[in-house]
Amino acid sequence: MARIPDQKITQDLLRDYYEARGRDLPWRENRDPYKVWVSEIMLQQTRVETVIPYFNTWIERFPKLSDLADADEESILHLWQGLGYYSRARNLLKAIQIVDEHMGGSVPRDPMKLRTLPGIGEYTANAIASIAFGEPLAAIDGNLRRVLSRLFDLPDPSSADLKSKATLLLDIERPGDWNQAVMDLGATVCTPRTPDCGECPLENQCQSAKKGTQVQRPISKPKLRTRSVIQTVVIAVNSEGEFLLRKRPTEGLLAGLWEFPGTELTGNNVETSPHEDVAKNLGIDLTGDKTELIPLNSLVDKLSHLTVTYQPLLVIGFDSISHCVTPDRGYCWAGGDAVKNLPLPVGQQKLLKLAREALDAKNIQYRPSVSMSG
Ligand code: ADE
Repeated sequence: MARIPDQKITQDLLRDYYEARGRDLPWRENRDPYKVWVSEIMLQQTRVETVIPYFNTWIERFPKLSDLADADEESILHLWQGLGYYSRARNLLKAIQIVDEHMGGSVPRDPMKLRTLPGIGEYTANAIASIAFGEPLAAIDGNLRRVLSRLFDLPDPSSADLKSKATLLLDIERPGDWNQAVMDLGATVCTPRTPDCGECPLENQCQSAKKGTQVQRPISKPKLRTRSVIQTVVIAVNSEGEFLLRKRPTEGLLAGLWEFPGTELTGNNVETSPHEDVAKNLGIDLTGDKTELIPLNSLVDKLSHLTVTYQPLLVIGFDSISHCVTPDRGYCWAGGDAVKNLPLPVGQQKLLKLAREALDAKNIQYRPSVSMSG
């Protein structure tokens, strides 16, 4: 009797599965290495359904590697807005510029060379090299780990185990299709909690299916705990209907994106008036009779390991746009359309929406302009 899982049988089954039921995704239309690269970076930590519209817009705007190489960081961050993990976008731009300037403008096919580029680790290098160039490499991610753990009934395979099992089963004639077939299988059939084994082309090859251990394979690791913080936010609107925004530092969480000024509530400032503290820093007098204060509803934003509860205060009514903080230190006043063009993290977009609803309710206009960016 053949050993299970059998190399040739699983390869044939995966080929047939990919041809008949592989997902029709925009980055699979051809094997353009630049497009494969962009898709793989967007797909890191992000679901396929979320990525599709971002990928299409990106390729429309930057159809070729050389188009992206000429882009500036602000505009690519703006296109990335909502995808999260913004360092991916910054690294992609840096890496594309390196390829454009120092590698003759062609994406390298050698995975080791790919791995010298910012944002490309072993998984992404193997995915690009196998899909775009047919290099015989398995791209080992969570999907492949789960599928292999079940095929071989391994509770907690090490990365060396996974590499050797993947190398054993990889279809070296069509490694890109093999990798993508496993990705599809893992995403749609061999799912973590409720695998649909009746729909799986590999059911007869699967040791876990034979033993009934699928749901326990692989054993799950304890989740990282998320931290929760409360953040006071001042949303200042001037008499021109513009919002005061500041640019986040160039390092760390949501680096280089724009936000409403605010501060994290800590044990030290809960007794004082944190909105007032923020306002004072900005040169805004909250007690002045020209300003109108509207507390907005709290809003919760979940990042990967952080939950932020925003407590926004809308502050309306300065005579002139220079009323408060001078436009250095990366502050700017931005009106309607201009706000749309600044890269804002999702939580800040929600705050903007909340503020606009409050302004609409008061019939206050916001203007399509931007001034004084620092
Ligand atoms: N996840 C990562 N890469 C992928 C790809 N090429 N197709 C579908 N899902 C993926």
